[in-house]
Amino acid sequence: MKLGCLNLVLFLISVHLLNYCWSENRQQQQVSALTVLEHTEENVGESKEEATVEDDLDPEDMEVFYPTNDWQVVKPGKVRNVRLNLETGKNEAKIPDGETGKTGLKYWKQGTRHGMVNLDSKSFTAEELKKALKLMKLESNTQTEEGHQEKLRETFRPIKELMADFEAMNVVMETDMEIINKLVSKFNSSGATLEDKVAALYDLEYYVHQVDNAQHLMSIGGLQLVIKALNATEPRIQEHAAFVLGSALSGNPKVQIEAIEAGALQKLLILLATDQSMAMKKKALFAFSSLLRHFPFAQQQFLKLGGLQILGQLFQAKGMESLRLRIMTLLYDMVMEKKLIQGTQDDSVPHQEKCRQYDELNLLPLMLEQDWCTMVPKLLTSSEHDTREKVLRTMNLMISSCRSEYQAIQGLSSLLDMLQSEYEGLAAEEQKEGETDGYFLGLLNSANDIIKQLK
Ligand SMILES: *[C@@H]1O[C@H](CO)[C@@H](O)[C@H](O)[C@H]1NC(C)=O
Ligand SMILES: *[C@@H]1O[C@H](CO)[C@@H](O)[C@H](O)[C@H]1NC(C)=O
Repeated sequence: MKLGCLNLVLFLISVHLLNYCWSENRQQQQVSALTVLEHTEENVGESKEEATVEDDLDPEDMEVFYPTNDWQVVKPGKVRNVRLNLETGKNEAKIPDGETGKTGLKYWKQGTRHGMVNLDSKSFTAEELKKALKLMKLESNTQTEEGHQEKLRETFRPIKELMADFEAMNVVMETDMEIINKLVSKFNSSGATLEDKVAALYDLEYYVHQVDNAQHLMSIGGLQLVIKALNATEPRIQEHAAFVLGSALSGNPKVQIEAIEAGALQKLLILLATDQSMAMKKKALFAFSSLLRHFPFAQQQFLKLGGLQILGQLFQAKGMESLRLRIMTLLYDMVMEKKLIQGTQDDSVPHQEKCRQYDELNLLPLMLEQDWCTMVPKLLTSSEHDTREKVLRTMNLMISSCRSEYQAIQGLSSLLDMLQSEYEGLAAEEQKEGETDGYFLGLLNSANDIIKQLK
């Protein structure tokens, strides 16, 4: 295990304090997410519905930009606190200053040294130490401004020293792995109540984002338990199991392989194909996407098992409209994945093998067969730029095969003309502000491409 500051932080004190930290942490994230949503453009139609069904902070919702303490690249129209990064020219955003540093405690890093400072006094109380721990997690990636460095250095406390303080306080340090072991046995214990089990899954989800933690979960048999729980009789267990699985699978090939061998794909397809709550569908779709992305073998199985039909039915299901964009994005990403692999020049054996696997995948032809030519453009009526952007690029991807279907869609051509003039205006404004390669210009070009090809 790498001993980066994040990991150190995760050596948290007893499970109780730990839980306390997380929920605080999560709450904080959620609060900021809400603030941003308030400042997002009017949510109309689909997104309004999405807002009412939104339960908690799913990673798959991250597409709806959530600010962190780091500056992140964002698209226009999403966030209030936007600054221009002169190096990249991209808009970036962060949580407004002062939302985290109120206690006077600050995380500080210079070179290899990092630790906490107490801006109010030179020492820490026990309470402040606990807070410091929380802030380390929260602020570990925040760059402290140059001007403050001198002042901070005076009150600087290295992590090592802080840890010694924790020991002096007789708090028990646990590694991530130990905590995961405990959570798994709690989940697996015959005496655990439904609430205990849900809580264990909820906590596990936090840990398995880290690649080595997810692999640890796998090595102790916990992943198999989670996959089994996908068809538990209690929906809340199923839903949380899907959430843990999705997070564990994200960008983690070893876990992806194990999961597909354990039958996760079939179980997730059943959740997607049967009558389930929106919350359940969302989590299942999240796990499903994490399983398929960058894993051609799983994509092959998905096609063999009729997964594309299931996605098509879900796409058209009443009341499930807010899942449409996610479904379309997943399909687009899979088609692009293949294109990118095939477009890469590389004679190495692994690459050739990858190419061979992707060659066997015929997602796009099946999409054309299954009427996606007429399904995708339906999403273009959205008032969200981000949605339109994704629909336009997907339409562009399919246009050589879908031209006649597009032409036959009533009102599509006038909708495209409307978008064209809207984006002409926005792109012109963008240009006035000095952006030569702006977001709206990209949207305008996308719309223009389609219009040209439909003539
Ligand atoms: C779960 O509990 C069962 C029965 O007590 C046991 O056989 C199994 O090894 C446990 N699994 C894990 C991963 O702890
Ligand atoms: C879950 O699925 C497995 C096989 O996939 C089956 O043996 C088991 O009975 C199912 N459990 C429930 C509760 O339906």
